[in-house]
Amino acid sequence: MQENQDTIFTDIPELQWVESRKDGTFREIKSYVLRSSYLRTFQIEAIRKYYGVFGLPFQEKKLNFTDVFGNDKPVVIEIGFGMGTSTERIAKDRDEYNYLGIEVFLSGFSKLLDRVGKEDLKNVRLMRFDAVQVLNSMIPDGSIAGFHIFFPDPWPKKKQQKRRLIQFPFAEILTRKLKKGGYIYCVTDWEEYAYQMLDVFSQVSDLSNPYQGFAPPRTWRPTTKFEQKGLAQKNPINEIWVEKI
Ligand SMILES: C[S@@+](CC[C@H](N)C(=O)[O-])C[C@H]1O[C@@H](n2cnc3c(N)ncnc32)[C@H](O)[C@@H]1O
Repeated sequence: MQENQDTIFTDIPELQWVESRKDGTFREIKSYVLRSSYLRTFQIEAIRKYYGVFGLPFQEKKLNFTDVFGNDKPVVIEIGFGMGTSTERIAKDRDEYNYLGIEVFLSGFSKLLDRVGKEDLKNVRLMRFDAVQVLNSMIPDGSIAGFHIFFPDPWPKKKQQKRRLIQFPFAEILTRKLKKGGYIYCVTDWEEYAYQMLDVFSQVSDLSNPYQGFAPPRTWRPTTKFEQKGLAQKNPINEIWVEKI
């Protein structure tokens, strides 16, 4: 059975939300296009069962991570986790960190929520919201150990490129949220975007690139669906790792 998100979760506004201009309001440029998701029964059940435990609603208030996770482990934020396969693997293998995964795509969000709930991954919390707004409103400056941004939408057409996530103003926000020594780890199969990332990060004064150019792959990063698609098209996979000084 499949259900449309518009007709369920009337009690959880951030899960019902579908981007719309029906009310005529101005919509700023977003790094994603939001559509209704058709959810399978296990995804609906996952939300009903686990959202209250592992989900975080959007709020105009800074988070206290000690309260959120119940411990003081360093926090890594993953932006745009897609179906969440890397998130789940990394959270299990590197459990010395807490992970806040942010994704707007409800189907992927609820799929990962199902895994996190069933496996009781206590070091993971998930948000279904625009990461840009989450960072600005909810994340204290100097609080984050690392950012993972794996295969962000490349927006390849010239006139769409303004939607790309990694641009100077956003790179500055990421940097402000990092602790000293914290890292930003991006991977892309879109070569021209990879060079844009290197360039953008090189313009942020508090960031340094220990590799000068692209970084060697981290052995702990699993291959994702988007990576497989890129590899099938013989696209180069480029890794970017920069640190806050
Ligand atoms: C190309 S997919 C990659 C997914 C996953 N990281 C992977 O490697 O398979 C990019 C994802 O980023 C999400 N996304 C884009 N902009 C976002 C934003 N501002 N906030 C949260 N998620 C976003 C999209 O919904 C999409 O699922």
